[in-house]
Amino acid sequence: MDRIIVKPSGPLYGDVEINGAKNSALKIMAACSLAEGTFHLMNVPDITDVRLMSELLVSLGMTVRENDTNSLEITNPGNLTAEAPYELVEKMRASIVVLGPLLARYGKARVALPGGDDFGPRPIDMHLRGLEMLGAKFASEHGYIDGHCERLRGSRIVLEFPSVGATENIMMAAVLADGTTIIENAAREPEIADLASFLNRMGASVLGAGTSTIVIEGVEKLGAVEHAVVPDRIEAATYLAAVGIAGGEINLIGARPDHMDMLCQKVGEMGMRISADSNGLWVMANKSLKAVDLATLPYPGIATDYKPFLVAMLAVSEGVGIVTENLFSGRFRYIDELIRMGADIRTEGHHAVIRGVENLSGAPVRAHDIRAGAALVVAALRAQGQTEIREPSHIDRGYENLVENLSSLGADISREN
Ligand code: UD1
Repeated sequence: MDRIIVKPSGPLYGDVEINGAKNSALKIMAACSLAEGTFHLMNVPDITDVRLMSELLVSLGMTVRENDTNSLEITNPGNLTAEAPYELVEKMRASIVVLGPLLARYGKARVALPGGDDFGPRPIDMHLRGLEMLGAKFASEHGYIDGHCERLRGSRIVLEFPSVGATENIMMAAVLADGTTIIENAAREPEIADLASFLNRMGASVLGAGTSTIVIEGVEKLGAVEHAVVPDRIEAATYLAAVGIAGGEINLIGARPDHMDMLCQKVGEMGMRISADSNGLWVMANKSLKAVDLATLPYPGIATDYKPFLVAMLAVSEGVGIVTENLFSGRFRYIDELIRMGADIRTEGHHAVIRGVENLSGAPVRAHDIRAGAALVVAALRAQGQTEIREPSHIDRGYENLVENLSSLGADISREN
């Protein structure tokens, strides 16, 4: 059984290179189904989810070659099989983003219905409603969504909530639709702007991505291009939290501070020092952090994906912090693991009340999902004795070299099997 072993560590010093964003790379890979030819993607993280998306592209009929480190060559020969099988969708929910591009390019798509995951049900009603507004028809049977359409037609779509996945699916379908599509209340995450810039390189006309209104002028045909994926703000937040918890001073090379405004503001209020420079982001913590209250919100608010790190920081801060989760109802499971490590946390509905303690206490714990698992790793830096994080495969879904990077900063951490 694989496990990560962490012993009390800190302060941390040094540099960490921030990889390309998982949540951008996966969607850009899916968008390669829109055009024939050979794509070159750079700054792609070497993580399990990227390997699963590669498998999905291969099952559709594409070839994926790993060239140099962090670079993929994806060849789309055309004539793809428009079906995403359950075996892959089950392992990675983000596979649903092939629905829009396959429909737009092939007029049909069969995609297994993703189930819930560790933080509760994750419906796809907004994806389907948006694509229906463009002219697609769906039937659901035997656990699959079957979609078909003639050429899609542009439309004005108002999203009920700024869903990241729905915005991306609709955007990838609308680029090949007839006429103009306007997505109102679109999600504004930097990864959406990155996907739009990739689509525009391919020959699409997408304006306003990164704002609440995206205007897409459909084109007849797109082409294969090269693109470097935007840096991962969630990975950067992980190392930032490690310093908040263990103390020290590190440089997050390549991080995009402009994508992390609210987070930087919050951890600044907690007492961390942060500065943007030409290399990325410099972060420092030389004293105990002060507790703050916070609520997760769609971008540019505090990302729900940052929350496990902020909860771990609050667990060892001075005072009481209240954290409110506004995106995913069940995203508090890892808190039971932090409690096993001596954290003083009570949850009530979508709120958590965290009373800071001086130190945590090392214990065997389980990584439930990518970010929750990584949060347990950084929390363990302030736990007396040894913490054993089981099922690190969840962490591998989203991190390249988490253990090696923390170790190079001076953490006492290793992986065993
Ligand atoms: C993406 C990210 C995930 C992040 C989340 C929110 C990827 C691979 N994952 O997930 O890491 O935590 O954005 O920033 O990029 N919803 C519906 N119906 C829908 C779609 C969504 O009710 O059709 C709800 C969801 O249940 C959730 C909320 O909307 O409560 C936000 O979900 P969404 O923004 O779509 O998240 P994902 O794209 O799944």
